[in-house]
Amino acid sequence: MPKTAVYPGSFDPVTNGHLDIINRGLTVFDHLIVAILHNPAKKTLFTVKERCDLLEASLKGTPNVTVDTFSGLLVDYAVQKDINVILRGMRATSDFEYEFQLALMNRRLNKDIQSVFLMTGLSWIFTSSSIIKEAAKFGGNITGMVPPVVEKTLKEKFKQLETSK
Ligand code: PNS
Repeated sequence: MPKTAVYPGSFDPVTNGHLDIINRGLTVFDHLIVAILHNPAKKTLFTVKERCDLLEASLKGTPNVTVDTFSGLLVDYAVQKDINVILRGMRATSDFEYEFQLALMNRRLNKDIQSVFLMTGLSWIFTSSSIIKEAAKFGGNITGMVPPVVEKTLKEKFKQLETSK
């Protein structure tokens, strides 16, 4: 039976580090659902629709990946999709505590769902959506850290935000 995992996150926006996890995840799982958290209480740069469009554009031509959105508990979303594996990427040790907490809480909420971690590629160890946004906001060079479509959209977004001030 084909094995599907859910790869959840904020993806605000997707980075090359995320794509690395997705591509390597696809060597372990037959299918991945990249699930974007829709949490109106959390301030994000991009709307959930924009994040979804950026992921879809970045994954164009990558087979066996579906992009979706979810709200509420991740484990409930997984059950609804009949999935029992959560895939997460792990970067430097600073990620460990948060990921450990998340995994233990998810297991407490649903013991039938397993969290699986892939260590990030060395090139992406210090890559995060937040740090990339910060650099892009002040005109820093982010080439090679995000897919070209994301780089272009980030520039446009900050330009747009600047002119609307
Ligand atoms: O990319 P992120 O922001 O690190 O992703 C975090 C995410 C979306 C995986 C996590 O916040 C999440 O699963 N949120 C949904 C609510 C939930 O189930 N929380 C975990 C148990 S309280």
